[in-house]
Amino acid sequence: MPVELKKDGDFAVLTLNRPEALNALSFSILGDIGRALDEVAAMKDIRALLVTGAGDKAFCAGADIKELRNRPLIDQKRGAELGQSVFAKLGTLPVASVALVNGYAFGGGSELALACTFRLASPNAIFGLPEIKLGLIPGYGGTQRLPRLVGEGRALEIIMTGRNVKADEAERIGLVNAVVEGDLMQAGRDFAGKFTRYSLPVLEFARRAVQRAGDVTLEEGLRIEADLSTLAYRTADAEEGMAAFEEKRKAEFRDG
Ligand code: CAA
Repeated sequence: MPVELKKDGDFAVLTLNRPEALNALSFSILGDIGRALDEVAAMKDIRALLVTGAGDKAFCAGADIKELRNRPLIDQKRGAELGQSVFAKLGTLPVASVALVNGYAFGGGSELALACTFRLASPNAIFGLPEIKLGLIPGYGGTQRLPRLVGEGRALEIIMTGRNVKADEAERIGLVNAVVEGDLMQAGRDFAGKFTRYSLPVLEFARRAVQRAGDVTLEEGLRIEADLSTLAYRTADAEEGMAAFEEKRKAEFRDG
């Protein structure tokens, strides 16, 4: 199967599994990712999603260029809309997602990583939005999500030159949360393990508030924050968290 979804303890693990084409995203694979993300949204007993690519060479080398080339324009617009809507699902999942970038993340592959809540990279990871070299521009969210992470000037430079961004630079400019040596899957579990013990709905309020920060005015963002922090106050988990503080014990959250 070109897209595999499995459960591993507290985690759902989504693997792009087309290593012979460096996990390039055909339209059919995009559809599979969308269906897998719907399944993740319905899973009751997971606390985070890990996204990875099979093989040791690539996380994902982007849209399937051979397929793109043979499509009429109308299909290509639908393709961009499909890629955008599938990757947008990552932002509305009830759990956070961590992209484990193990090699090339080019074009749609970088855009998939950008759509995840967090990104970890192996030291050999190479990011890039090289569409300009094909006479294209990024179409699965890269022009919008990259500047939100690294700033407009850097995003324009990366997109307009199509240059590679190696792991150490990616970490320096905030494109990845960390570069990790060794077993990337274990690093993903450890990274997510730093937040998965907290209340799931409250983690979601935090994600929603921060994710809106790049879209709205400060005034509107502060309103969103006030609304979501009020929702957090109303949870039993907030009651438990504050009681545990006063009683000098560890809080036991129940996701409600
Ligand atoms: N689409 C289709 N096939 C791809 C692919 C892609 N994006 N990337 C790699 N492949 C295929 C290659 O054609 C090759 O297949 P064959 O053996 O059948 O020829 C196989 O994967 C292995 O790739 P290479 O031989 O090229 O491996 P390499 O180590 O020499 O180079 C690479 C690796 C630098 C990543 C190179 O494959 C490459 O530049 N790939 C294209 C990257 C790219 O331009 N991505 C952007 C796509 S457009 C896009 O994503 C638009 C968007 O916004 C959604």
